[in-house]
Amino acid sequence: MQIYLDTANLGEIREAASWGVLSGVTTNPTLIAREQGADFKATISEIAELVNGPISAETVSLDADGMLREGVEYAAWHPNVIVKVPSTTEGLKAVYQLAKRGIRTNVTLCFNPTQALMAARAGAFIISPFVGRVDDTGVDGMGLIREISGIYRQDAEIKTKILSASIRHPRHMVESALAGADIATCPFKVLQLAMKHPLTDRGIEQFLADWKSRV
Ligand code: E4P
Repeated sequence: MQIYLDTANLGEIREAASWGVLSGVTTNPTLIAREQGADFKATISEIAELVNGPISAETVSLDADGMLREGVEYAAWHPNVIVKVPSTTEGLKAVYQLAKRGIRTNVTLCFNPTQALMAARAGAFIISPFVGRVDDTGVDGMGLIREISGIYRQDAEIKTKILSASIRHPRHMVESALAGADIATCPFKVLQLAMKHPLTDRGIEQFLADWKSRV
């Protein structure tokens, strides 16, 4: 399973990229807005220079023509830009038209397996089921990844990648991989936590103490 970073913060992207673990970056309008005053095009272009992999930039139009217009514009910014559209019928139309132009899409805000099947049929490059937000409703978010994985794997025509989104903790990363996700997009905090273990810290302390006590 590949690891993407879910942020528009250049400092976080620079740091995580230096760990050598990043295969891509996802952004959304909320994450872009969080970077006060940052220009959208400049931010996406700079991310594309920092990480050599798919960089998702989300459309904000509600109609297919608008999404198509935005998508064609974003795709011209850098060859690694992936156009994010919502899991709606207008989104499907945009995916279909963008795919015809050779532009890759990430169908976001997916909350059920039928949305994932329809997105794949329309030609989506990535489907993004939001596991954390499903968990918030009291339903098992990972079940959604398992069902989509089952549907996609039994159909050799489907090449759409499953991106586990709305990841809240390192356990979500583990379960996503085991449930069949191709990618997990994680907040920076989750990637930091993923490398933390008290026994690692204690082990380092002990080794250093023993090393210093040599006679
Ligand atoms: C994915 O591409 C989304 O940007 C993201 O994972 C949403 O996560 P949230 O539920 O934490 O906002």
